[in-house]
Amino acid sequence: MATPSLTPATVITGASSGIGEALARRLAAQEKQTLVLVARRQDKLAALAAELKTAHGAHVETIVLDLEVPGAAAQLLADVEARGLAIDTLINNAGFGLNNLFTDMPLDRIQGMMQLNMVALTELCHGVLPGMRLRRQGRIMNIASVAAFQACPRFAVYGATKAYVLMFSEALDAEERKHGIHVTAVCPGATATEFHDVAGNHGTLAAKMMDTAETVADSALSALNAGRPVVVTGLLNKPLPFFIRLMPRRLATWFAGVVVKR
Ligand SMILES: NC(=O)c1ccc[n+]([C@@H]2O[C@H](COP(=O)([O-])OP(=O)(O)OC[C@H]3O[C@@H](n4cnc5c(N)ncnc54)[C@H](OP(=O)(O)O)[C@@H]3O)[C@@H](O)[C@H]2O)c1
Repeated sequence: MATPSLTPATVITGASSGIGEALARRLAAQEKQTLVLVARRQDKLAALAAELKTAHGAHVETIVLDLEVPGAAAQLLADVEARGLAIDTLINNAGFGLNNLFTDMPLDRIQGMMQLNMVALTELCHGVLPGMRLRRQGRIMNIASVAAFQACPRFAVYGATKAYVLMFSEALDAEERKHGIHVTAVCPGATATEFHDVAGNHGTLAAKMMDTAETVADSALSALNAGRPVVVTGLLNKPLPFFIRLMPRRLATWFAGVVVKR
């Protein structure tokens, strides 16, 4: 139940492409909830919002925002509230990685990645939880990655941001469960999205074994609805965390490096 004057809403960051776009499509078809789609590309968001309104009669709002900018999360929360909406499902999906050696990456790109993948995600969780606690219900989905389970050469910072998302989300779920709030960390393997164009991942082994964004979205939403704290998506990826735990750490790191070698 939302605060009386506010309408419950689902916020999806990074909804202009890939997994976020697939999640928006599924949620518009499956739930009657107002959707708030967030990303930087206004044209993509507007086209998706129009499609979802026509196809499902969904109520969809769009917010154009760069979440790498410090303070953007607070701006997003204020904007959502000003629209008369209360976030009862938060999907922290926006994120990017870069396939490169750490020393060859410009510092501003590293800072942007950390800001988007970790800081904005954390600030959004912090901002929505008080309202969720008051209403004694809420769902948070944080998109991590299978990169979270071991060190990732050529994705050193990205892998570390995703390890943060996984650990943070699991801890948060344990803290918030008694308040009626569930937090689900989603760990996809390689997925066919624009992620690999941005990362410069083409020609790698990872790019040869991709799931679709739609199958990832389906697994992610099943886990969210079941209140599961962690889901690894994709049949081939599911046993990965188990085998990685059995391996010497150096071997797991080497293996991760092989998968993204260009
Ligand atoms: N694809 C994979 O293989 C894979 C595997 C594991 C985990 N993941 C994770 O899955 C999530 C979704 O990625 P994807 O695969 O769907 O990639 P994608 O197609 O590139 O989507 C990324 C989304 O994030 C948005 N975004 C990027 N930078 C942003 C910023 N500064 N401010 C606001 N929005 C921003 C992008 O929109 P705009 O460009 O319009 O801003 C886009 O909507 C990410 O967290 C990624 O790390 C992906």
